Amino acid sequence: MPRRKSSASRLTPAPHRPVRLRRLRRTAELRDWVAETEVELRRLVYPIFVRPGRGRPEPIVSMPGVERYTVGNLAPLARELEQAGIRGVLVFGVGRTKDAEGSDAWAADGLVPEAVRAIKSAAPGLVVATDVCLCAYTSHGHCGVLRNRSIANDPTCDRLGRVAVAHARAGADVVAPSAMMDGQVGWIGAALDATGFEGTAILAYSSKHASAFYGPFREAEQSTPAFGDRRAYQMDPRNGREALREMACDVAEGADMLLVKPALTSLDLLARARERFTLPLVAYQVSGEYAMLKLAAAQGIVDERAAVGETLAAIRRAGADLIVTYFARDVARWSREGR
Ligand code: PBG
Repeated sequence: MPRRKSSASRLTPAPHRPVRLRRLRRTAELRDWVAETEVELRRLVYPIFVRPGRGRPEPIVSMPGVERYTVGNLAPLARELEQAGIRGVLVFGVGRTKDAEGSDAWAADGLVPEAVRAIKSAAPGLVVATDVCLCAYTSHGHCGVLRNRSIANDPTCDRLGRVAVAHARAGADVVAPSAMMDGQVGWIGAALDATGFEGTAILAYSSKHASAFYGPFREAEQSTPAFGDRRAYQMDPRNGREALREMACDVAEGADMLLVKPALTSLDLLARARERFTLPLVAYQVSGEYAMLKLAAAQGIVDERAAVGETLAAIRRAGADLIVTYFARDVARWSREGR
């Protein structure tokens, strides 16, 4: 059969320009123009450690650049953060006295309530969240109350409810239970509602792995368990589906926001949670993650600003709306100093 030669039917494919992904990487302006992720200062939450007594802020050896404050010297820090553009802080206290039940954790005049009042009066524009746990208040350093050498779940939830109410009464906007007790969000919600604090939000530490990266925090908080470890209540780092179950439980119990930690070891969970839940997601770049970067930078092994920026971008990219990070203050300073 002769070939038809009509030009109308001879459709030549349109020329295809080869893909060259480098075109949009040529200049800093182009790269910035098409960047997918932004780490805005308003998304960073600065953790604040409060210690009893008076005097100047005290350095934490394993966390260079982070200090423990007394209530009396919180005001300048709060004002600095507010002016720098940081929107939120997460307050950690430590027991003035420690006992088997951790009762100082729910004292109306405890360190965290006093700190909340001091921060709120110095910097009314800061959102104040508080860590709700017992480990810095119990003589044995565990996150709950003991019955026969194991952490009793429901009695602990009852205590956590009291802690949350004490923090709410002092003016905390958000309470963040981190004890990993089953049902803690529901118990705390009920306690808040029963005392007229239905407006206080709950940021649930939903996915908290039993992690080696909390080491420096335990120095800061003097909360290393006196015996055993936290693996009977914190999650096994090998588990991801279980983390999603924890989150689903917290959503059902009435959580307003979900938190995962550590951050860099949970990027998969952030990405999966982002698909599955509509609540704001928070990632906690924990003390050990901070220490690793700080110490490597101090040795000249990595460039601090670049390395920190890269981790924060990755955490945002994975799906976090907010990032709790000890670098918040540094990032604010770097952005003031300009690129
Ligand atoms: C309290 C609590 C811990 C952290 C946050 N809340 C310590 C722990 O569970 O041992 C760790 C934060 C950090 O390492 O920066 N339970």
